[in-house]
Amino acid sequence: MKVSVVGAGNVGASCAEYIALNRIASEVVILDIKENFAEGKALDLMQTATLNKFNTKISGSTNDYAKTANSDVVVITSGIPRKPGMTREELIGINAGIVKGVTSNVLKHSPNAIIIVVSNPMDTMTYLALKDSKIPKNRIIGMGGILDSSRFKCYLSMALNAPASDISGTVIGGHGDTTMIPLTRLATWNGVPVSNFLAEDVLKKVAADTMVGGATLTGMLGTSAWYAPGASVAALVDSILNDQKKIHPCCVALDGEYGQKDICLGVPVIIGKNGWEKIVDYKLTTDEQAAFNKSAEAVRNMNNVLAEIKA
Ligand code: LAC
Repeated sequence: MKVSVVGAGNVGASCAEYIALNRIASEVVILDIKENFAEGKALDLMQTATLNKFNTKISGSTNDYAKTANSDVVVITSGIPRKPGMTREELIGINAGIVKGVTSNVLKHSPNAIIIVVSNPMDTMTYLALKDSKIPKNRIIGMGGILDSSRFKCYLSMALNAPASDISGTVIGGHGDTTMIPLTRLATWNGVPVSNFLAEDVLKKVAADTMVGGATLTGMLGTSAWYAPGASVAALVDSILNDQKKIHPCCVALDGEYGQKDICLGVPVIIGKNGWEKIVDYKLTTDEQAAFNKSAEAVRNMNNVLAEIKA
């Protein structure tokens, strides 16, 4: 099984590392436009193979898309990351051109690949990749909800003083500071609703911290986070390549589901060898649905900017 990762920045490299560490694919190709950068990251990672006992072959290339040929999955992380104080949305102008070019190049060499979009603003970049490539919708997946949910579960476990592996929780909607929706009602500690343990103001703070989870790290690190984003992509790749049929919240094309159309937005989906295979209906409450509609409106406004850029 072959995975290509376009963009050898922190997220791309961390994603390649987790794929190798968790023995998810036999081959990973990393691509970057910066001369020798992907080659360097790949070589550094390969020098951990005997220490970490993995057999994944990791190689790097400076923009030679032929090296990505016949990939089962391609992860697009290319583009500029956000700096402290920036929103993901501010990256749209530059990243739209990059994501469009990368998507068309990878599909020339891997016409059947499943594409995972990580570049920000992710919901709009996923929509762009779908519209521009015209490949079947099930093969385009935006990765944001898995990451946002992992942050949600992390903050919940800290508030509960519980092991993170005991917590389930889902974040749907857009992958933006104001558009994501942590579904507190459905979060549990080993099946028991978290509201049995935590007061409403604590739960509100957990949700608020989750929503600015990425921004908080950008402020601390000076650039976008990478460990949790990389691990989130690896989990998604694992579910695809090993046909796990796990439910993950992912950004996918909606055609009436969750009351929305002609938009890519985060909803729970079953992930397997065909990409996203089915949208799962969580039966939102009226308030949750209203929040989802508001999130869709914000993402739709962002998608409309794409048309202006084109003009
Ligand atoms: C984040 C970036 C990857 O949320 O969007 O950290």
